[in-house]
Amino acid sequence: MALMDIITIPDPILRKESAPIERVDGDLERLIDDMFETMYDAPGIGLAAIQVGIPRRLLVIDATRDEHAAPNPITMINPEILTLSDEVNTYDEGCLSIPEVFAEVERPAEVRVRYTDRAGNLQELDCDGLLATVVQHEIDHLDGKLFIDFLSRLRRDRIVKKFVKAARNPVVG
Ligand code: NI
Repeated sequence: MALMDIITIPDPILRKESAPIERVDGDLERLIDDMFETMYDAPGIGLAAIQVGIPRRLLVIDATRDEHAAPNPITMINPEILTLSDEVNTYDEGCLSIPEVFAEVERPAEVRVRYTDRAGNLQELDCDGLLATVVQHEIDHLDGKLFIDFLSRLRRDRIVKKFVKAARNPVVG
């Protein structure tokens, strides 16, 4: 297994739409393992393949918040939202591709999602709480969408500008 570099804004690849995965094979399984290792190391609770530069519809998630609880890794290949609740939830969201930026985002509180798991089986899962937010946040990545898109244009521009500036002036030393 190997740690992968996580791409940050303003890299335009993060705005690309990811393509469906046609089959689960050894290469994909290795990518899934590397993505989990990268996500846990970051640390984060969700990672989309596009965030490590691979524009394919693949997510890894572990929304276990209690560090003493057993890990609950979920792999979603070609995830698809089936239903969203009318009820909403607000979470202070962050993103490994937008380090150190957090903002409250309102999303449907419950989501039913269909996906292929790493064994190649079709699954359906009802998500609520933090998991519902993570699933929606990660599926957005597959469509080139970021959580800052939910913020006011002024606030979003300010965040992007900061990263553009940082990319131009890399820290030396
Ligand atoms: Ni993210």
